[in-house]
Amino acid sequence: MTDAQPSADRRLAAQALAANDPTGWFEPLYAEAAACGAVVPWDRAEPNPLLVDWLTSASIPQGARGLVIGCGYGTDAEFVAARGIRTTAFDISPTAIRGARARFPQSPVTYKVADLLHPPEAWLGAFDLVIESITVQSLPPEIRRAAVTSIQNLLARDATLLVIADIATAPALGPPWPLTADDIGAFTAPDLTPVRIQCLPRPDAPGRHRWRAEFHRPAS
Ligand SMILES: C[S@@+](CC[C@H](N)C(=O)[O-])C[C@H]1O[C@@H](n2cnc3c(N)ncnc32)[C@H](O)[C@@H]1O
Repeated sequence: MTDAQPSADRRLAAQALAANDPTGWFEPLYAEAAACGAVVPWDRAEPNPLLVDWLTSASIPQGARGLVIGCGYGTDAEFVAARGIRTTAFDISPTAIRGARARFPQSPVTYKVADLLHPPEAWLGAFDLVIESITVQSLPPEIRRAAVTSIQNLLARDATLLVIADIATAPALGPPWPLTADDIGAFTAPDLTPVRIQCLPRPDAPGRHRWRAEFHRPAS
């Protein structure tokens, strides 16, 4: 009998965190997935139902400039683009971005390799809609403030930020590190106002809940 092996994401995350490189496990995970079928646990064939439900009833104008953070293989970004939003989507993992382009070869989405913690200067203040789904919680609490500030800086005037995250009920030995109510509140800034913060059941995971929080930056 052999001991159970940790999953690829757990093994690679433990190695990267031990090396004080908190984002250093995403690319190796996607590379292992591409090379030998390691499981990317957050990958889904369908867009996030909490995003679908929200965007279907949100009044985001056609042609708005959208940005999807930590897009992985692009399922959510494709849904956003299909709603008439001019969509850019990025991930720190080049293999994930290659995977997104391969999965959606006719895509209208502009896929980019970029680091949320050091976004391209041209993106600052450039987006009318920013979608953050469970990427902040994949980063350790020590760098969460930097990640949140970086997200705030991407929004144009009169822009919307949507945050989806797991809910922390107790300190987690992450990854992931789900967000408390205070962590969700920390997306608020003098020029970024909470519109609606909800704790919603997950249609894709019965019995579990997630935050869905909408923020708005005023036009002036
Ligand atoms: C937990 S997954 C979430 C994927 C997707 N947003 C979703 O909702 O399923 C986190 C994603 O963010 C990417 N990521 C992690 N840190 C990042 C960073 N600093 N900049 C850009 N992408 C990052 C990872 O490669 C991974 O694809």
